[in-house]
Amino acid sequence: MIDYKKLAGKNIVDLVPYQPGKPIKELERELGIKKAVKLASNENPLGIPEKAKKAIIDNLDEMNRYPLGDAYYLREKLANKLSVKKEELIFGTGSNEIIELLIRTFVKDGETVLSYAPSFSVYGIIAQAAGSKCEWVKMKDGFEVDFEGLKNSITEKTRIVFLANPNNPTGTYFSEEALVDFLESISEDKIVALDEAYIEYVDAGDYPNSLKLMKKYKNLIVMRTFSKAYGLAAFRIGYAVGDSEAIDMLNRVRQPFNVNMLAQIAAEAALDDNDFLRKSIKTNREGKAYLYKEFENLGLEYIPTQANFILVNVGDGKKIFDDLLKEGVIVRFLGPGLAEYVRVSIGTEEENKFFIEKLKKILGR
Ligand SMILES: Cc1ncc(COP(=O)(O)O)c(C=O)c1O
Repeated sequence: MIDYKKLAGKNIVDLVPYQPGKPIKELERELGIKKAVKLASNENPLGIPEKAKKAIIDNLDEMNRYPLGDAYYLREKLANKLSVKKEELIFGTGSNEIIELLIRTFVKDGETVLSYAPSFSVYGIIAQAAGSKCEWVKMKDGFEVDFEGLKNSITEKTRIVFLANPNNPTGTYFSEEALVDFLESISEDKIVALDEAYIEYVDAGDYPNSLKLMKKYKNLIVMRTFSKAYGLAAFRIGYAVGDSEAIDMLNRVRQPFNVNMLAQIAAEAALDDNDFLRKSIKTNREGKAYLYKEFENLGLEYIPTQANFILVNVGDGKKIFDDLLKEGVIVRFLGPGLAEYVRVSIGTEEENKFFIEKLKKILGR
């Protein structure tokens, strides 16, 4: 008999796979109901941008061809929009692929990556799959990043520091001052991968201007995505901006046709759809205010967020998660480290109300 565990190796056998949020259709099928609400994966509740939909339909007939390996048109449009050079951009199948490319390209045998916890588990999963590992530095009370702890945890083995800002699952953020201080204090052979998946939702005045900082700190690589405010999660498209030499290295590892053509077309059109982006941000801002108010009325502590989700203390996170599921609402339970919380994505007005109505019912208030 073949021992596949042995063939895969200990790092793979020990991997705990990423747990995605339950799909809406699956819950509807399980409960035999027509309407479930999913507030679990920080998706855009407004659907996809109208302009993206039109561009996709207009181009469907050309899908017999391979995609543009260099994402030529999207690259040109995005470079212009961000005022960066075309050689400073790389696209991936979601920013998840960028995380993978960074680790596969730069983390050599025996080297490690560093992040803070709780944060995006994918950094650890990809590091481990690549035969490396992620060291996690616990956040301070109030979910503040412990930059001193991070600095003290850097060793000669550390190659990449992943910093989500705003952070998932806490929704908290760190300022430009904190980031600059950190960048100044570490040697430039440590790559700082700044994960800005939720940047479009940020309204904090002291949030870092990462693209400006990138010009000074050549070890800073910024990751972003079309999965959130641009509403294209299923297309799987994200990107990184960094020093052209770093991008050149990543490009050597990247598969030639990694980003499919519909994703490129959709992203390009989404960049032109300012109405959709504005509406997404407005819906999020209003939904956030509504949920804050309702949590306060219910006497529930929540963590102020700069993203499109809120971490809320419900006492027994697993129980509330399960009870909400039975009521047709999918939120996210984050495991033992955050046992008192659930994370809820901010939805449409109707979805937020549905969630609050069910939460009140469960809590008996
Ligand atoms: C912090 C963070 N980074 C990256 C991603 C991955 O996004 P993408 O869909 O671009 O792979 C997510 C998705 O939830 C996220 O929360």
